[in-house]
Parts: sequence; C-alpha cells; structure tokens
Amino acid sequence: ADLRPRNTFGVAASARRLVEVADAGALPRALDALDGARPLVIGGGSNLLFAGDAEDALAITDARRAVVSDDGDRVVVRASAGADWHGFVLWTLAQELGGLENLALIPGTVGAAPIQNIGAYGVEVGERVVAVEAFDQDARAFVRLGTADCRFGYRDSVFKQMPDRWIVTAVEFALQRFATPVLDYAGLRDTLAARGITAPRPLDVAEAVIDIRRSKLPDPAVIGNAGSFFKNPIVPAAQAAALVAAHAGIPVFAVDDGLRKLSAAWLIDQCGWKGKRDGDAGVSAGHALVLVNHGRASGADLLGLARRIAAAVQMRFGVRLEPEPRIIGARW
Ligand code: EPU
Repeated sequence: ADLRPRNTFGVAASARRLVEVADAGALPRALDALDGARPLVIGGGSNLLFAGDAEDALAITDARRAVVSDDGDRVVVRASAGADWHGFVLWTLAQELGGLENLALIPGTVGAAPIQNIGAYGVEVGERVVAVEAFDQDARAFVRLGTADCRFGYRDSVFKQMPDRWIVTAVEFALQRFATPVLDYAGLRDTLAARGITAPRPLDVAEAVIDIRRSKLPDPAVIGNAGSFFKNPIVPAAQAAALVAAHAGIPVFAVDDGLRKLSAAWLIDQCGWKGKRDGDAGVSAGHALVLVNHGRASGADLLGLARRIAAAVQMRFGVRLEPEPRIIGARW
C-alpha cells in the first residue's frame, strides 16, 4: 500500500499490508488477519517520518463523536480515534464548550492526540483527557486508561513510551460550558487585544489561534511538513543560566524548580538554518522548528538534514535536540 498520501511530509513509503478498521469492535479480527504482527497505526500521518517502509499498517476510520455526560457546566465528550482533530475541536465549539480552543487547527486525528500529548498556545490535551479507550495488544483486551494511567508529559505519554502496545480507539474529554480561557501565551493575548477583545469566548480564542498558526506554520496541504520537528529541550537550571550569560536574548521558560525549557526554534535560527534547503529537504522560512519537503525529498533526506541541524546546535550551544515525530525505519 502506498503511504505517501498518508504522511503529511509527503515522502514516498509503502506498507506490505494496510488494514482499515471502521469499527473498533472489529480490531481483534483485523489483528488476527495480520498473523500476530503488530501494525504501525497511522492517524493523520502528521507526526511520522518514514525513513523506510512499514511492514503492516492499520488505520481506524471510526469518526463518531458524542456527549457522554452533562452536569450543566462540566460536559464530557467522547470521540472515536479516526475523527479529524480540528473538525472535532470545531464541533465542541459549536456546542459552546470550552477547553480545546487553544488546540485548534492542529493536524491529525483524535486517536493520535493523547499519544504525543499534543499541545499549543498554553494548553496540552492531557489536561482535558479523562480517559483513553484502547486495545491492549499484550492483554488482547479492550481497556480504559484514566488520566493518571496515561502518564502525560511534555509531548509524551505511556502510549508514546510503548508504541507497540496499545491501539487507541476513542478519547473522552472533560470540557466546560463556562470555561475561563487560558491566555498564558503572550502572542495569543496580543492577538486578542489587537482585535479589541477583552473578555474572549472560546471561539474568539480558537480564531486567534487559527490566525497565529496560519501566520507562522506552513500548511501541510501546501508544503509537506510534520509541524515542529524537534522538542523544545529541557535542561538543568544551571545550564540554562550559563547559556543566558553566554548568549544574549536566548529565550528560557520555567518548567519547575531545577529545570528550564529552551526554544529549539531560536537555537536552530541562531545557527543559520531558517529557510535553508538542501535539495528538496529544507527548513521552513517561517519557523525554524519546521522541516519541509519542497517536493521530492525522501524521508532519509529529511532525517539527514535533521541530524545536521542537531549537530550544529550541539556544537554551538552544547544542547541535544530530540526529534518530535515518530521515525519509522531508522533510529535517531
Ligand atoms: N523563534 C525563533 N525563530 C523562529 C521561530 C521561533 O527564534 O523561526 C523563537 C522565538 O523567540 C519564539 C520562540 O522561538 O518566541 C518560541 O516560538 P513559538 O512560540 O512559535 O513556539 P515553539 O516553542 O517554537 C511550540 C510547540 C508548537 C506550538 C507552539 C505554540 C514544541 C516542539 N512546539 O513551538 O507545537 O504550536 O509552541 O504553543 O513544543 C508541534 O508540536 O508540531 C507544534 C507546532
């Protein structure tokens, strides 16, 4: 099966077999048909880099969404893994439910959202997840993991730690009818203020987020990319202090005592990589953290570029960059 249309980098890749599952209940049978081989589960393909081919691949197309409970303010909604993430966010906003507006326009599916704990503009999805339903391939049973079981961290979860164990089938979120918007991200406050919006509703926040994303991040439908290619590095506070002393203007964000988050985009930008290209593999001219496929780059080309960028940052700043997307067919 051709996986080029199933990865937003748009690189050539294939799978020996590709199974599509329309109803999660049919998963055990679909897996039996693969003779015990654990498939690569593909959602929107927006956090994958194919540096090689996949053996077997599986996609869940079930896209149902429903309100599970409603106590007047706190409303629990459930969406199946195959639902488009942004479409789901818009659906929650149409019901006047707040909580996911900062995560508008993120590419991908609902099922993929908890895996890397998608986050943007001051909110991580793990803060809204009450349960993840999944098929446990070790236990060969459907399970329901509560928030604590998911072990959410920055772009991390138990599902990302053990990528071959669970297949996420649905996610439940706790939303609010009378939510207080999260306006921690300065650029979001500025955008709303510039529009004269002083008491933003969730839809106002979503519209601002959509405009910020469109102004900064390349649209994968126009130029292949997988969003941020690297995580923002988390370093000991002492190392951050030394970097601040040595490099004027370096952005540093508090994480908790003893740890600081650095801006990978800034580090890459300082090394001169923004807008650069090597053949068809390049760095976005709009955002230094986004690798782009200008046309015919292979996954190996993009991985090679990523390694050169990480080596440059390591050399200049002594900071290790870790890729954010899952890399298939090669080790970082
Ligand atoms: N910056 C540069 N050069 C650039 C871009 C940014 O120097 O080309 C510096 C600026 O100083 C800026 C700072 O980097 O203040 C941070 O940039 P930005 O606010 O765009 O956020 P980011 O840290 O680069 C993260 C997430 C994004 C998310 C935004 C907004 C990661 C790896 N990335 O990016 O998530 O949308 O914050 O919250 O944490 C993704 O994961 O795919 C993604 C796009």
